[in-house]
Amino acid sequence: MPFGLKDRSIIVTGAARGIGAAIARGLAAEGARVAVADLSKEKADETARAIREAGGSAIAVEVDVRDRAAVRTMIDEAVKAHGPLDVIFNNAGVAQTKPFLDITEEDWRFVNEVNALGVLIAMQEAIRTMLAQGGGGKIVNTASIAGKQGYEPLAHYSASKFGVVALTQAAARAFGKDGITANAICPGVVATDMWKVIDEGFRDHGLTKKPDEAFETFAAGAVLGRASTAQDLVGVACFLASPASDFMTGQSLLVDGGMVFV
Ligand SMILES: NC(=O)c1ccc[n+]([C@@H]2O[C@H](COP(=O)([O-])OP(=O)(O)OC[C@H]3O[C@@H](n4cnc5c(N)ncnc54)[C@H](O)[C@@H]3O)[C@@H](O)[C@H]2O)c1
Repeated sequence: MPFGLKDRSIIVTGAARGIGAAIARGLAAEGARVAVADLSKEKADETARAIREAGGSAIAVEVDVRDRAAVRTMIDEAVKAHGPLDVIFNNAGVAQTKPFLDITEEDWRFVNEVNALGVLIAMQEAIRTMLAQGGGGKIVNTASIAGKQGYEPLAHYSASKFGVVALTQAAARAFGKDGITANAICPGVVATDMWKVIDEGFRDHGLTKKPDEAFETFAAGAVLGRASTAQDLVGVACFLASPASDFMTGQSLLVDGGMVFV
């Protein structure tokens, strides 16, 4: 167990599929007890079952991260099943492709309510729990390369991810004295269902013609020469959940195959 995650009580939101599912599986393989939380209970159940079948420890919890009461219940269920909360990965997110001038108030609210407000609510409730436990704990948010640079036609998505970086820094400053750290992971172009939605949006707006054209064009920007898989995020996720990262806080780590250098 090189990461020292044995029996750590960890919640991962948006863990039914994609990056969250890979992180949940990776943490469980290192001995963590994982709450697989998602809007889709059915798919969260499948992911949790697969983890248990592989010898890990996991429960599935239904949550809409925009709903404070549901987030509270998610944390309470995880604590009841796995013990005091050690780490929460706020990973649930949505994307939408819209040319800058076409973004409506409704589009802004849809993306920012999940990606920014949802992260704020889950951070607040997790931190309240960690403080009540006596302090100490780790918050790990999923931001993006779009949290470091504004991308077109993803301006409102980029704004939501800049928000995640800001929340990460502010919480790090606020709760360092309580032994609570806050960091973020910034993936690049990852082959998940989210990119299928983004890629389709490019085509719907006449910005690309062929399936996967936008995905491949963006992915070509990585100096390591390939698109990311969800598995590429697992090592840094385990590190940020482990004692090895205890003296690190307020950081948003780019794990993008070398797309953005800041
Ligand atoms: N795929 C990429 O290239 C990429 C790049 C950078 C950052 N990210 C970020 O990584 C995270 C995971 O993305 P992914 O690619 O795995 O996406 P995905 O669409 O495959 O998975 C997202 C999961 O979040 C869940 N979810 C959505 N809204 C929710 C809500 N309101 N409450 C609870 N769960 C909800 C979905 O049901 C889904 O299971 C997101 O925050 C995304 O913005 C993805």
